[in-house]
Amino acid sequence: MKVLVIGGGGREHTLVWKLQQSPKVDEVICAPGNPGMSEARACPITAPDELAEFAARENIALTVVGPEAPLCAGIVDTFRAKGLRIFGPDAEGAQLEGSKSYAKAFMAAHGIPTGTAKSFTNEGDALDYLSRQSMPIVVKADGLAAGKGVIVAETEAMAVEAVKSCFSGVFGEAGSTVLIEECLIGEEASILALTDGKVIVPLASSQDHKRVGEGDTGPNTGGMGAYSPAPVVTDALWKVINEQVLDRFLKGCQADGLDFRGVIYAGVMVTEDGPKVLEFNVRFGDPETQAILPRLESDLFDAMVATVDGTLEQTELTWADDPAVCVVVASGGYPGPYAKGHVIEGIGDAEALGATVFHAGTSTDEDGNTITAGGRVLGVTCRGETIRDAIERVYAAVESISWRDSFFRRDIAHRALD
Ligand code: AMP
Ligand code: GLY
Repeated sequence: MKVLVIGGGGREHTLVWKLQQSPKVDEVICAPGNPGMSEARACPITAPDELAEFAARENIALTVVGPEAPLCAGIVDTFRAKGLRIFGPDAEGAQLEGSKSYAKAFMAAHGIPTGTAKSFTNEGDALDYLSRQSMPIVVKADGLAAGKGVIVAETEAMAVEAVKSCFSGVFGEAGSTVLIEECLIGEEASILALTDGKVIVPLASSQDHKRVGEGDTGPNTGGMGAYSPAPVVTDALWKVINEQVLDRFLKGCQADGLDFRGVIYAGVMVTEDGPKVLEFNVRFGDPETQAILPRLESDLFDAMVATVDGTLEQTELTWADDPAVCVVVASGGYPGPYAKGHVIEGIGDAEALGATVFHAGTSTDEDGNTITAGGRVLGVTCRGETIRDAIERVYAAVESISWRDSFFRRDIAHRALD
């Protein structure tokens, strides 16, 4: 059978890599894909209706959407209207990620624990409210802002600046509504689960590293590395998360009539008062996927088909005990401005050391060299018998990769050692 994966980053490379392992999958096509997916056919189409025509013409058995933007734009609705099997929520369900105020209202209505927040469409009202709050506080642009629309403000001056910059339009439409949210203290975990609208099946826990600098310092990025499982999610905490987050999410979708058949990702803060949801994403995490899927022993294609077809109850996912660690190698300057086009050395050496190298921002030059084409360029993953073992292996592999001004964090997964 043929599978179509939409997207072209590290998460999509990992999805392609895992789907190719299914004995039922003859061919994976990726739109647009990237040079790391050498065994997948690339498809240059981007418009949803043209992709749906392509999927019908090619007799695609399953389409998987990687990023949030096409989900929020309604690609699932387009495919389903043509009777095509596609993994992901429709545009209405995707609002859980596309609008933070929608997600907050959903959580409030269905008793899902989260920080208290207030939303504003007017700068004056937001600033007035801010002047009566204690710091730190969190300012969020309401819509999609590629992970850059959240500012954790230590001081009132920072918060004021954040509110003003949202309303000044730096995040486009996304900033026309602003949420001011209580700052939650604790350790974060990424909780992903498959749901077919009838049952909800958690994936292995993970944790990512959002800040650019070691010791979780500096500005937020799309994610500098991840590991799975996250020891902060103990068996006791899983029980609470299953009850208070995942089950309530499923019941909420049913009560609201949301057709959510895909993966839900809850960013959870483990606070002294229990887990609280920071945000919902309606797609796989990046780079969490690069640490989670290498531990999945079950057939991902089967699980995704069951998710779309409503037969997830019959699916059991099994996981390798071995932890996995993914270290992102990035372009110097990221998340600020950075150069592109540098030749990447050492990918083969890293693979020879047992690592799986997932491409994110890469391209190929005229001479066939793999070159840098983005901020986050590669995700290098290793499994190990213990987390320490996985860390040692992954860093041995990462050390062999370089290009001009490349960098990576040296402390990925270290919290799991504590
Ligand atoms: P979000 O896109 O809402 O997940 O926010 C991105 C990151 O900002 C999160 O992963 C947290 O590190 C941080 N963050 C978001 N909301 C809060 C909050 N209420 N309290 C503390 N940190 C937060
Ligand atoms: N790793 C964070 C995200 O995928 O949103």
